[in-house]
Amino acid sequence: MATTIIVGTQWGDEGKGKITDLLSEQYDVIARYQGGCNAGHTVVVEDKQYIFHLLPSGILHKDKICLIGNGVVLDPEVFFDEINALEEKGISIANRLFVDYKTHIIFPYHKMIDESMEEEKENLKIGTTKKGIGPAYVDKYSRNGIRACDLIHSDSLEKKLNSQLEHKKLYLYKNYQIDISKENINKIKEKYHEYGQKLKKYIIDGSLLLDEQIKKHKNIIFEGAQGTMLDVDHGTYPYVTSSNPMAGCACTGCGISPIYIDKVIGICKAYTTRVGEGPFPTELVGSIGEKLREYGNEYGATTGRPRRCGWFDAAVVKYANRINGIKEIVLTKLDVLSHFKKIRICKEYKINNQVYPHYPADSEIIKLIEPIYEEIEGWKEDISHINNFNDLPKKTIEYIKKIESLTDCKAVIISVGPKRSQTIIR
Ligand code: GDP
Ligand code: IMO
Ligand code: MG
Repeated sequence: MATTIIVGTQWGDEGKGKITDLLSEQYDVIARYQGGCNAGHTVVVEDKQYIFHLLPSGILHKDKICLIGNGVVLDPEVFFDEINALEEKGISIANRLFVDYKTHIIFPYHKMIDESMEEEKENLKIGTTKKGIGPAYVDKYSRNGIRACDLIHSDSLEKKLNSQLEHKKLYLYKNYQIDISKENINKIKEKYHEYGQKLKKYIIDGSLLLDEQIKKHKNIIFEGAQGTMLDVDHGTYPYVTSSNPMAGCACTGCGISPIYIDKVIGICKAYTTRVGEGPFPTELVGSIGEKLREYGNEYGATTGRPRRCGWFDAAVVKYANRINGIKEIVLTKLDVLSHFKKIRICKEYKINNQVYPHYPADSEIIKLIEPIYEEIEGWKEDISHINNFNDLPKKTIEYIKKIESLTDCKAVIISVGPKRSQTIIR
């Protein structure tokens, strides 16, 4: 049996989708443990591209079980759209896609609140995906949430909706002149009860399913969304998402014990990107950043927004490796750096003229970071067709080894293009 957590080591979009799909071949179950449809996980098979926002990225493997764990917040509309898109392509999900009873549900007003909170903030905009993620988690943690199992029962759904909307009435009315009459609440109730009836056949006790699979010595991937630096506790707060992408959350987000986790694999882009607001020490705002965006096609898979781009930041990845227990990384998008004559790596930080050995925890200190760079000769050669590590140019190998030594881990897989075949397994 092997159980592996896949976690983003930067600010998301590291290529978790590609690698989850790739590794799924050797696994039996793929479970998402947090986040919601703010995620955009891209999988390219032959010439077809799939973007999964909610479904686990192992879903294209026809014999694999996929689970949406209790730690996820689920938008039923997106869930059924993704299922329909797969079925149209002839991919059946019958009897192998499941949702935990305890998964919290995103309602239309969560999306409205997300949008309006962003508009209201002047200087403190987060740049959220506006998918209702934060407001849905707020309801969960204020013990006012509505879960997948609640959608099935019409009477209790009505009571819960009334209770949830009671707290939001004024806000929704003030910002949207939303009709919060009994009639309108009934409309939402009807629609979501209908979703509940459709959802029924997917809903199971996810924790029990995983326990049974573990006892049968099956292999399980826990697929994280977002990235460590977007973690609500350990990321660049408040410019973070509203869940814990870090590996520790795989247990609470799926209902299994930490004693069953064998390994954590960190997914790490060969440079750095970020979507939305917040600190980004190695960001390149000029022409080099634009080149990274152009060659790496760095546009959000969920919102289409241009991603901010910068050089590799070893301090960030070292931090992610420490708090997630990562010893092995997958280095993605290395092919993108083939376009550059000179490449820089941020080795560590200087703050107030002193070398700072750790990623700072204090947000006021983060503002003072000055990256200390090492410049490396680029290899200026197309590597996107290479499948053997030793066939890589000498300078590419030096770059990989530099990252390994700075972040104290081994790059076990190197990705040189979006396709499954563009991968080097060491
Ligand atoms: P995720 O959110 O971590 O799953 O990553 P995204 O799917 O949002 O973004 C990664 C993007 O890079 C997608 O468009 C992938 O198809 C693409 N990609 C993944 N690995 C590679 C790679 O090694 N090279 C290149 N050029 N593109 C890659
Ligand atoms: P994947 O799984 C990159 C960012 C948003 C915003 C912040 C909060 O594809 O790596 P939210 O909608 O979650 O409340 O937004 O988090 N963000 C992501 N950035 N990749 C993601 O997911 C992201 N999910 C959220 O841009 O800055
Ligand atoms: Mg993404």
